[in-house]
Amino acid sequence: MCGIVGYVGRQQPNGKPLEVVMEGLRRLEYRGYDSAGVALVGRDGVLVTAKKAGKLVNLADELDARPLPGATAAIGHTRWATHGAPTDVNAHPHVAGKIAVIHNGIVENFAVLKAELLADGATFLSETDTEVVAQLLARAYARLGDLSEAMCAVAQRLEGTFTLLAVHADVPDVVVGARHDSPLVVGLGDGENFMGSDVAAFIAHTRRALELGQDQVVTLTPDSVTVTDFTGAPAQGRAFTVDWDAAAAEKGGYRSFMDKEIDDQPQAVADTLLGRTGLDGALVLDEVRIDESLLRSIDKIVVIACGTAAYAGHVAKYAIEHWCRIPVEVELAHEFRYRDPVVNEKTLVVAISQSGETMDTLMAVRHAREQGSKVLAIVNTHGSTIPRESDAVLYTHAGPEIAVASTKAFLSQITAAYLLGLYLAQLRGNKFPDEIAELLGQLRAMPAKIQTVLDGAEHVREVARSMRDTPSVLFLGRHVGFPVALEGALKLKELAYIHAEGFAAGELKHGPIALIEEGQAVFVIVPSPRGRDSLHSKVISNIQEIRARGAHTLVIAEEGDDAVLPFADEVFRIPQCPTLMSPLLAVVPLQLFACELATAKGLDVDQPRNLAKSVTVE
Ligand code: M6R
Repeated sequence: MCGIVGYVGRQQPNGKPLEVVMEGLRRLEYRGYDSAGVALVGRDGVLVTAKKAGKLVNLADELDARPLPGATAAIGHTRWATHGAPTDVNAHPHVAGKIAVIHNGIVENFAVLKAELLADGATFLSETDTEVVAQLLARAYARLGDLSEAMCAVAQRLEGTFTLLAVHADVPDVVVGARHDSPLVVGLGDGENFMGSDVAAFIAHTRRALELGQDQVVTLTPDSVTVTDFTGAPAQGRAFTVDWDAAAAEKGGYRSFMDKEIDDQPQAVADTLLGRTGLDGALVLDEVRIDESLLRSIDKIVVIACGTAAYAGHVAKYAIEHWCRIPVEVELAHEFRYRDPVVNEKTLVVAISQSGETMDTLMAVRHAREQGSKVLAIVNTHGSTIPRESDAVLYTHAGPEIAVASTKAFLSQITAAYLLGLYLAQLRGNKFPDEIAELLGQLRAMPAKIQTVLDGAEHVREVARSMRDTPSVLFLGRHVGFPVALEGALKLKELAYIHAEGFAAGELKHGPIALIEEGQAVFVIVPSPRGRDSLHSKVISNIQEIRARGAHTLVIAEEGDDAVLPFADEVFRIPQCPTLMSPLLAVVPLQLFACELATAKGLDVDQPRNLAKSVTVE
């Protein structure tokens, strides 16, 4: 949940390490924003730190007021608090003697370790588990005289999850990192090297990166990167090139990252579709390295994911079951492994995650593989853990998603899951090649249709501004509109901090209709009148039922669907499209609505309270 940056450079201006680390923290602030801090080591063997509670701007102000001396190496941290309140004292780095340490994760055996250190005469300033690690490292360094060896020794004693970075005043050209179940990537420079929780930390300086394996220690000097396992035995990272640049991780003139990322959506969907057909027009998913005969023999698909990614999986269930005639279950990853799920070698488990680091999803991936299932990951972030621990990966190409609330990741996850569904239908012979080509054509038409919805954004924004004091909004949808309703409610909760709930429209009469009273705002996602059976007319009846009881109805309906007009207080139009494609359009007004309403309330849409982008603790 925290953001971590490390830097070491040769012949650099002395101010560069701090600049690099502060810039990296700015790009990683979405990972946590309770407090931030830096530690610098200079050639004169001096270790200095600065740390402040609150957002990064507080630390920047502190550094302006109290400039730090030049340095050769630096580490920086932006925190999402686990142990100890978000105060100056609990902020990272934590110092023990000449060592400074930053940490992402939770050391579960910290109480035992702390008791041992207290018995040995250690004193502690903070309530954090990280200070325990700093004390252990200082003692290990005193014994071993080498920072990397000390890190290996300490890493072997820790239980829980951790990424650790450490610097020592006696070795000003060295930064050492360790990772166990928590993200860390290396950036490869020329006479300088970097580390970060993700590549955004160093993308302004290099696109060459090294993915680390599980339980590894990495030692950076300006000219070398050495990787070992926790016993000190040599290990290898996997080199890769980041396929986006620094500009993609900037706001680019938008008032928030979320506004920009909503607008990025046509491109995100187009990029996710790009290059996935062969010369004969057949779908080619090179990345799906699971044996074809095995894919033909699977009898069930289980999607595991959390939050928005789970709703993307829920949408995909409708399409994959329809196209492939395979049962698809969608399971919240944190529930999955604790309920003894029935999965085996005939189950394909699909893990969906923007970050590729969500701990609940990672643990579910491991559990599924232990049961003999193959796991295919749909992930946006290269160099992350979930793809490395899965049997195959299908990358979404949404580019960096910085705002905590997921938007373009959702659309690209649906797109990638649809590609997987079509690939399975092709492989298993459920669809003829011309049917696959037609469905691919429908998908390829979506970016332009999403753009049409975005072109009408001002109407949604106006309505959202007028509703800034609304205490509660309900969302109704049916078929693929149901997960869209759930996603619309999630967006509003996390951004505007108001009560919001999504329901399957058919469930209304089984209870939720009791919530309807005069003025209750209700979004209704209306299925296409050209779609399945009588779904359209059933949802129109639902709108009538709630309107009759005083609801203020906000209706999302296709162009030309005039049946909604008598019962809608507001209508938001989406272009006509096949039913299964409609979630890619219907969710956009809901994203715009939540973003604008929260902005009108004066809230920070990129960094909502209590949340972090990447949930790397269980
Ligand atoms: O990185 P992931 O896609 O695995 O993240 C899953 C959820 O934590 C994430 O979608 C979360 O629900 C978002 N804040 C929703 O906007």
